[in-house]
Amino acid sequence: MSDQLTPESIAALLEQAVAALTAAESLADLDHQASAIRAKDSALMAARRSLGTLDDIDARKAAGALLNDAMTTVTEVVEARRAVLEVSERATQLEADRLDLTEVVVGDVSLPLGRGHAHLVTQTRASLEAVFVAMGFTVEEGPEVETDWYNFEALNLPPGHPARDMYDTMYLDIAQPETVLLRTHTSPMQIHLLERAVADGTLPVHAAMAGRCYRLDTPDARHLPVFHQIEGLVIDRGITFADLAGVIETFTAAYFGPDIHSRLRPAYFPFTEPSAEFEITCTICRGEGCRTCSRTGWIELGGCGMVDPAVFAAVGIDPAEWSGFAFGFGIDRCAQMRHQIADMRSLIENDLRFMRQF
Ligand code: DAH
Repeated sequence: MSDQLTPESIAALLEQAVAALTAAESLADLDHQASAIRAKDSALMAARRSLGTLDDIDARKAAGALLNDAMTTVTEVVEARRAVLEVSERATQLEADRLDLTEVVVGDVSLPLGRGHAHLVTQTRASLEAVFVAMGFTVEEGPEVETDWYNFEALNLPPGHPARDMYDTMYLDIAQPETVLLRTHTSPMQIHLLERAVADGTLPVHAAMAGRCYRLDTPDARHLPVFHQIEGLVIDRGITFADLAGVIETFTAAYFGPDIHSRLRPAYFPFTEPSAEFEITCTICRGEGCRTCSRTGWIELGGCGMVDPAVFAAVGIDPAEWSGFAFGFGIDRCAQMRHQIADMRSLIENDLRFMRQF
């Protein structure tokens, strides 16, 4: 009888195979060991081939069964080891891909430490405010938590008004249901400012108001549920639609550059009458027409119009004496267009490789 085929020798062959598999430190190594064990010239396969040399039928059957069990065990050990290695290789991969945002780079102490810089949205807000300051506007700020009155009602959006559907509102669980909310736009700042100006007798108003706004939107390439707007409000004597168009055009050229222009198209907003959407020359194709601007050469930036008499009534201003205009648009959208950012979600992912470009 072949000395390869005693139960002890088969057990020893299996033990060797299992040891080789368990020692594999990578998936590639494991595959290599497994195929070596299953190869024609392996010790286990040689043992199987020599079954025919056993003359005793019972001994041949017993050895055959042991060799089959051994191959089953090999398969089980391979799979168990594979599961362990997959977990650890994935962990290694994740570790390699990880960006440690708090990491302190310790190195040559003679090099100046990286100081970081303002986020692109903060930079954009500052440059927009600077443009409006240069045009004689004051810069104002206000609350992100508003009541229904400021966000909707005083802006001529009474309960049940269909235009409320434009604003997927996040309500706070405070006071009566659906009375306290996260502002869906910066327009409520118009009401705060006008109430104050009326109380303090400080009309006229020329103001720019920037800040964070909230809507129940799913993030996508052009929308974020938390975003930023800048609002403009001019209330004075004898203000006309021409003043509005002039301010929008001046701002557009000042912020985007002299070859980018603006145009106004009729639209509807409850707090302005007449209302317009303002569009600027597409910053991708510079007006030639491309995919981004649906071949029109123009991209919508925001809304504007002459302040509606209902808004004046809400804050107690005499529309016979005062008139004015308002506008509002997205700061993130401005950053996106000026820097050709394909996906707005990049602004909130905090990937330093993206942030460092600006
Ligand atoms: N608040 C509007 C919005 O977020 C934008 C807007 C439109 C602001 C017209 C204005 C305006 O001041 O006059 O959809």
